[in-house]
Amino acid sequence: MNNLIDIMQLSTEEIQQLIDTALDIIDKPDKYADSCKRKKLATLFFEPSTRTRLSFEAAMYELGGNVLGFSEAKSSSASKGESVSDTVRAVSCYADIIAMRHPKEGAPLVASRAASVPVINAGDGGHYHPTQTLADLLTIYREKGTFNNLTVGLCGDLQFGRTVHSLISAMSRYKGVKFVLISPEELKVPRYIITDVIEANGIEYKEVTSLEDSIPELDVLYMTRVQKERFVNEAEYQRLKDTYILDTDKLRDARADMIVMHPLPRVNEISVSVDDDPRACYFKQVLNGKYMRMALILKLLEVTV
Ligand code: CP
Repeated sequence: MNNLIDIMQLSTEEIQQLIDTALDIIDKPDKYADSCKRKKLATLFFEPSTRTRLSFEAAMYELGGNVLGFSEAKSSSASKGESVSDTVRAVSCYADIIAMRHPKEGAPLVASRAASVPVINAGDGGHYHPTQTLADLLTIYREKGTFNNLTVGLCGDLQFGRTVHSLISAMSRYKGVKFVLISPEELKVPRYIITDVIEANGIEYKEVTSLEDSIPELDVLYMTRVQKERFVNEAEYQRLKDTYILDTDKLRDARADMIVMHPLPRVNEISVSVDDDPRACYFKQVLNGKYMRMALILKLLEVTV
């Protein structure tokens, strides 16, 4: 496997190996400090990002490598009409590995077919975001100690939330997992995820609209932002954007060991008053993302330490 476009390209054994590498990096960072010396990562971001782009860059620097790239389409030759395929063929001449974010679903897959170096999907439209899922999985593993027998609530924009689609796919492979899918009618999980992933794996699930009613049964609550950039109708976004706001009052009904996750950025969906609650894990996810991206870069570059 030389690319990561969809989290399902990684077996559960490979995910565990990445987690083990990430834990070793956390424990012994110096061991990895020169592991990617003279290697270059290109970050090709056709869509805005704070965490994903900067954590990829931090990851490569902490492995002793270097980084080049662009953070918006308009500063690349895409603005002159260059295709994704031609862009990555060119960048393959300069870099050893590429991380690409693109607003069009499937663009990183197209890129991976044209590139002569590994390509990592750093988010494609409302489709998938596999490296966020790696961050999410390390967070669940560190906080809960297992992926099995967890009741996972996903709340908010489940239609356009690409992190939700990748996390459901990944978690569907573990024993005893249940999903509580909490969204307005307009933002339900796409049917193909329900049929091809959840039902195909015989996973117990329910689709509900009330966060308050669901919260007491959850081991993991994964909040999401309503994805403004995917709406064609601004009035519809305004109507739906504050459907769910997690605050300290709602958390009173949650289990003492439930964890609150969010891929970030957040807008209003988690009150800042929740940040001080020991169950809030969303800034831990940010840091875990860097370690998992380090582990992934090592794997795709076939670097052994
Ligand atoms: N979670 C995430 O993808 O954040 P950014 O959009 O800031 O990269």
